[in-house]
Amino acid sequence: MDSPILDRTNIADKNSYFIFNEGKYQAVNGELPLRQNLFLEGDNLPILNDLLATHKEIFRIIYIDPPYNTRNYLLTYHDNRKSKLWLEMMKDRLKIARDLLSENGVIFTSIDSSEVWNLKLLFDEIFGSENFLGEIIWHNRTTPNDAKSNFACDHEYILCYAKNSNQVVFKGNQKDLDKYKNPDNDPNGPWMIDNPSAASGQENYKFPIVNPFTKQEYFPPKGRYWAFAPARVEQWALSGKLVFPKMLGKKFILKKYLSELKSHHKAFSSVISGILTSHGTKELKQLFDGEGAPLKFPKPTALIKTLLEQLAENEDHILDFFAGSGTTADACIQLEKEKNIKLNWVMIQIPEPVRAGSQGEIMGFKTVSEITKERIKRAYEVSSLK
Ligand SMILES: C[S@@+](CC[C@H](N)C(=O)[O-])C[C@H]1O[C@@H](n2cnc3c(N)ncnc32)[C@H](O)[C@@H]1O
Repeated sequence: MDSPILDRTNIADKNSYFIFNEGKYQAVNGELPLRQNLFLEGDNLPILNDLLATHKEIFRIIYIDPPYNTRNYLLTYHDNRKSKLWLEMMKDRLKIARDLLSENGVIFTSIDSSEVWNLKLLFDEIFGSENFLGEIIWHNRTTPNDAKSNFACDHEYILCYAKNSNQVVFKGNQKDLDKYKNPDNDPNGPWMIDNPSAASGQENYKFPIVNPFTKQEYFPPKGRYWAFAPARVEQWALSGKLVFPKMLGKKFILKKYLSELKSHHKAFSSVISGILTSHGTKELKQLFDGEGAPLKFPKPTALIKTLLEQLAENEDHILDFFAGSGTTADACIQLEKEKNIKLNWVMIQIPEPVRAGSQGEIMGFKTVSEITKERIKRAYEVSSLK
């Protein structure tokens, strides 16, 4: 069933499907092929249904950046803050999206504070609250955007849901291993200084540690406890993990060896910072030779790559059914190069007419989907030059 709020004025009804290969678009007439990069032009609802025939349970990652239901956007919908209608539109699509996800698949959805809570309830209904992985806070701007109230809303959200949360493990981020050095040629390898005391512990963990050279006694700082049992002191002094100074008045050193780390990765943080909305505009402008960004507020590729990197493996299928300028495809193209993997992306974008007087129109584009197609082509050209 079509969305009751879709305004089809000036939008072509016919869907056009393309394979993007070797920098060229080639029309697809029959079945949509697997393991290909696909650009599907038209309303995402019937297209998602078409995809079900060939791509059911295929997508490892879906990223979407739907219209935010605010007045500012250039939208196909009557964007009148009628949450119910907006949610109906999302519901129809998310139900199909769930069926398109693989068993270990994850859907990331960008959204701002206006609809995040409603959208979360909708996701809970469709995906089940047990499959809510978390919401990412994306610190996306540094300049306040609401001068009237003097309240700076400088973040957005990315809701993360799994098809089946038991099947999802994020890769996490690399720990900062540069802190581990070996200035004393310790045979146990690179190390960094560890904190020997802890905020909590048992009373008998306040024992004195005696420096074998100076006989000085060390106690944990006031209110704290040693982070190890008394038996460890001799053992670690012998192995070199605990180093006592030969001069009175100096502290001992507890070494934390790189080899002791259980993992070189730390968990994927629910806060993303250092990537700004303005970066997205800047890179789109750059891709169009500095002429201008043909679409307002594209997401930065770095943001999408941060998400994709957490899960994407060679030959994974990635879907974005609100493609806009095609940032997700660009992020996939960049990641393929950086990680030496192959990703199969599928972008869906409606041929929404560009707004009169907009930068897109000045640059000669008639529809947003024309912008998507051109951006993907350019992203591929840039990548093949690297
Ligand atoms: C917020 S923008 C996405 C921006 C994108 N993430 C980027 O970085 O450029 C949402 C896009 O969804 C498109 N859209 C809205 N309704 C659609 C529909 N029913 N089918 C396909 N695309 C749609 C709009 O034309 C708009 O370009």
